[in-house]
Amino acid sequence: MALKDDFVKEALLPSTVSDASPRKKGSCRAGLVVVKALLLGLSVWACLNALDLAPVPACMKDRLGHEREWKADEQCPQATAVVPKKNVELWSSLGKTFDSDAFKARAVEWIGGAVRVPTQSYDKMGPVGEDKRWEAFGPFHDYLLKSFPLIHSTLELTKVNTWGLVYVWKGSDASLKPLLLAAHQDVVPVNPDTVDEWTHPPFSGYFDGERIWGRGSSDDKSGLIGILSSIESLLEAGFQPTRGVVLAFGFDEETSGLHGAAAISKYLHETYGENSFLLLVDEGGGFAQEYGSVIATPGIAEKGYIDVRVEVTSPGGHSSVPPQHTTIGILSQLLVHYEENPYEAKLSRGTPIYWKSQCLAAYAPDLPGELRKALKKSVKSDKALKAAQKELFKSKSFHALVGTTQAIDLINGGVKTNALPELAWAVVNHRIATDSSVGDVQAHDTELLKQLAHQFNLSYTAFGSQLTEEGAPAYGTLTLSDAWGTALAPAPISPIDAPEYALLSGTIKATYNAHRSLTGDENIVVAPGIMSGNTDTRYYWALTPHIYRYNHHNGGNTTGIASGVHTINEFLVADAFYEQIRFFTTLILNADEFQA
Ligand SMILES: *[C@@H]1O[C@H](CO)[C@@H](O)[C@H](O)[C@H]1NC(C)=O
Ligand SMILES: *[C@@H]1O[C@H](CO)[C@@H](O)[C@H](O)[C@H]1NC(C)=O
Ligand SMILES: [Zn+2]
Repeated sequence: MALKDDFVKEALLPSTVSDASPRKKGSCRAGLVVVKALLLGLSVWACLNALDLAPVPACMKDRLGHEREWKADEQCPQATAVVPKKNVELWSSLGKTFDSDAFKARAVEWIGGAVRVPTQSYDKMGPVGEDKRWEAFGPFHDYLLKSFPLIHSTLELTKVNTWGLVYVWKGSDASLKPLLLAAHQDVVPVNPDTVDEWTHPPFSGYFDGERIWGRGSSDDKSGLIGILSSIESLLEAGFQPTRGVVLAFGFDEETSGLHGAAAISKYLHETYGENSFLLLVDEGGGFAQEYGSVIATPGIAEKGYIDVRVEVTSPGGHSSVPPQHTTIGILSQLLVHYEENPYEAKLSRGTPIYWKSQCLAAYAPDLPGELRKALKKSVKSDKALKAAQKELFKSKSFHALVGTTQAIDLINGGVKTNALPELAWAVVNHRIATDSSVGDVQAHDTELLKQLAHQFNLSYTAFGSQLTEEGAPAYGTLTLSDAWGTALAPAPISPIDAPEYALLSGTIKATYNAHRSLTGDENIVVAPGIMSGNTDTRYYWALTPHIYRYNHHNGGNTTGIASGVHTINEFLVADAFYEQIRFFTTLILNADEFQA
């Protein structure tokens, strides 16, 4: 799961990927848009206000170069529910199977058994082959082999970097881009001190009649076993795909994906090439009740990331003759200055989070009336946009999701009480707004500390550039750097006006309906979301522009479904798992018939 804080940034992006972000400031030229709007006789394009909103661009191109603009009457375009046509009978009969008690018992056993094989990944693990802890994945592979016999006799399995799993289900039409489904095998370690606090032991996979308990039950064995349960069932029903299906299961997502997804990415690039998949679904957002409406939120973007190391040096000596400010004192002032100057968050029309709020305005009946009005007007009015922002930012988590955040997470300095510290450092973790960049953050932090560097007479180097006069006498040094060399740009935004997004949205709607015997297109609304952390998809940007981070779970339902992710008492509501199997089945069948 990506909404998390405990992953180590060791990841190095493949170089083909790091340039992939097409985000350019000011890419929406107001003049062009004015002409367009005049041609259409409608002056309601958000991009008209592009110039008023500087420095944040009012509209932005997604990675296919489509500009996102909102018409007042089209705040949150919705796809219709999509059910298989050619394979509708197969789909219906599998639906009945999924409703049977026999299948449900089997599904509970599939996921429970997977939870019972611990696959913990730890921070800073050594390479595969050297670090023995990776061998925990061997029994998990044995479990999969034993539990999904048809998959293992039909699909082609390649083990990448020993523990990475790539399954290929060949389609009869090799010209069709395969569907790519991803999940991760590893789970967050269980803190041994907290084992007693678990209602049921963390690796019990215990089923209490309603929930399956244990580490990984939700994150992300529900995804991985959900995919395999769906495919095993399709195979049992005799389904033979026209479009290929490829499964990519990394094994260290929780600690950066450096050994797993990074290697799988390389393998997939070599085997299939860039832009070679129809679409990719990996773990991510789910669906939840929001303001009176059920809203599914597939992640179409991920925030960026950088850990900035702030290092101060100054002369040491005996602490009986101290200077007014020691190295630690100076560092402290720098850090206080950081916290007194948080990044300004700005709700901007060109961002997925704004599109999501437009979906709330269009479809959530219990949204406060004033906010709805402001959001609707905000399409063309900057004043209304500010009013909507003010209201929405009352939620701390919404505010954090929109902007670049900063958190001082590490500090170190000093060795002895009678010696002045010569060195002190801290690491500031930033999650970078989807409409910002690593460069923006570096520039911002560099500027932020300039005055204090001068005041303390420090020679200042930031991200490799010397900012004070080279060789000029100084009292000490201040150095800013990318702490582990793992900065990550915000992910390219997956297009939401593409047929692939309609395929996903329509599949979500059809699954939701089928699981509850509903009909119609508005039982669940699909709205774009963003992830504040990073999934394995960070390595897969170049494989397809259509990347959706989505678990068909109601993870946001605190009275209901998945809970305890990354902490004690992780569990999965069995019914949510059955629905997830239905989702993957529907997706595979719909993708099989999909024509762009
Ligand atoms: C900065 O520190 C150096 C070394 O201690 C000293 O020579 C120089 O005069 C100081 N400059 C200022 C402006 O205090
Ligand atoms: C949330 O969970 C409760 C209790 O399990 C359930 O009654 C409700 O329908 C759920 N809401 C959604 C949106 O699934
Ligand atoms: Zn996960």
